[in-house]
Amino acid sequence: MGEAILQMKGISKFFGDMAANDNVNFSLEKGTVHGLLGENGAGKTTLMNVLFGLLKPDGGTIFIEGNPVTIHSPAQAMELGIGMVHQHFMLVPTMTVTENVMLGLHLPKFPLLNPSLVKQRINELSQQFALDVDPDALISQLSVGQQQRVEIITALYHETTILILDEPTAVLTPDEAKELFVILRTLKAHGTSVVLISHKLEEIIAIADEVTVLRNGELVGFTKIDKEVTRKEDLSAMMVGREVSFDFKKQKGTSMHEVLSVRELCVNNERGVQALDHMTFTVRRGEILAIAGVDGNGQKELCEVLTGLRQPGSGAITLNGNDITQASPKQINELNVAYVPEDRQKSGLIMDWDISKNLVLKNFRKKPFTKGLFLSKKEMDEAAEQAVEAFKIKTDQVSTLVKNLSGGNQQKVILARELATDPDLLIVSHPTRGLDIGAMEYVRSILIAKRNAGVGVLLVSADLEEIFQTADRILVIYNGRVMGIVNPDVGIQKVGQMMAGITTGEAHA
Ligand SMILES: Nc1ncnc2c1ncn2[C@@H]1O[C@H](COP(=O)(O)OP(=O)(O)OP(=O)(O)O)[C@@H](O)[C@H]1O
Ligand SMILES: [Mg+2]
Repeated sequence: MGEAILQMKGISKFFGDMAANDNVNFSLEKGTVHGLLGENGAGKTTLMNVLFGLLKPDGGTIFIEGNPVTIHSPAQAMELGIGMVHQHFMLVPTMTVTENVMLGLHLPKFPLLNPSLVKQRINELSQQFALDVDPDALISQLSVGQQQRVEIITALYHETTILILDEPTAVLTPDEAKELFVILRTLKAHGTSVVLISHKLEEIIAIADEVTVLRNGELVGFTKIDKEVTRKEDLSAMMVGREVSFDFKKQKGTSMHEVLSVRELCVNNERGVQALDHMTFTVRRGEILAIAGVDGNGQKELCEVLTGLRQPGSGAITLNGNDITQASPKQINELNVAYVPEDRQKSGLIMDWDISKNLVLKNFRKKPFTKGLFLSKKEMDEAAEQAVEAFKIKTDQVSTLVKNLSGGNQQKVILARELATDPDLLIVSHPTRGLDIGAMEYVRSILIAKRNAGVGVLLVSADLEEIFQTADRILVIYNGRVMGIVNPDVGIQKVGQMMAGITTGEAHA
């Protein structure tokens, strides 16, 4: 077969006593896409951070085209032809594409780079790989998919032969993901090798040539992918060490009285453009109402209005019969509403706090966590230990700072906190984004359990599989308007068309 452009042999990396990578071997062939799989906390990002010079390994050797190399910094990794797009974007929203690319090159001589030459290179790469990026645009004006292309351009800026993508599709819409795959195929055709970290197994089967699987920091599997033969169950069994059910049967719910009612709601976004256009719907106790839609059709603004973070222009919102149209986030929280926000890193966690404290972040004024004026550390830690156990948060102690958890495990902390109680209304935005398949299965089963316990659940998701597994009714949102509220019986295809704004469905508000 082909030749290895990269070999990592016997790589180990410890954080304290914990081996995030334990004697891992990894080999990447020229011109291939190589999937790197494993549960949250398995060590995928760590292994790639070692390759990109962000972490110094405690053992092992890296070979590029057969030659041993030591990589001390990202700048050096880039000189060796390695580029990386990180799990969480590292772009500065108030700066232009060109300025961000310059920053991302990790060069000490950044101020001396000539912007017009950088611009030229961006245009060149943009054309070569059909990336379609405007060098003068501000990052804040770009969609998530476009922002990701800026990261890809930065990663490709030097003659890049090895491109690392850490969960690139977790935040993309299905269409954006398809466009990314076209880009990856073009890169392959140019002889670039790609390492693709993803939890989406269909995607891996569709695009990868080979996969390597890590579990608890160790290499547990390698296989070539044959699109016709490889099944996602084969890969998940390697990852988790057991079969994961992809279609769990849920019982029909018994919906009860109305908990949330939204009438003729109109909201503007920060640019003064109408984001919600006369939205009307209700959520009842004991049901999951899914808001299905391509990202950016008003879902974010809807969640913000419902949680008091944004003021509506007109319309009315009632919760258990109380008018909350003008209520503050604190008032709404006190009315027993739980919220899992979309941007969990920015609005859900305090990175410099430990797991225990983050888990009581919103409930700290409530029993049993307060004793008089003081927080009870024992109660907090016990509750945290239960959450760590239930959600399989990968850590050895609840005093670990959240910033030291893997990406997926950070998300589990917020989910554990918000799902700890039985609120009247639970608003969850993209709850399984970035989670491994085991955790995904668990979170979806919890949403159903909450529904069965009489919680009203408003699920915002762009993942049709997730919606059809869990929802009792589906509201399709397009351009800030309700395209229809339908029963899941109408089928995935119909809902997909409604999401694209092609057809409407009957409204059962
Ligand atoms: N800076 C750090 N300090 C301490 N522990 C760390 C640090 N970075 C990672 N870890 C730990 O190393 C382990 C592997 O983390 P890593 O980020 O590589 O996982 P991952 O496979 O990328 O997971 P995910 O799918 O959640 O992104 C985790 O248990 C994590 O908590
Ligand atoms: Mg990771």
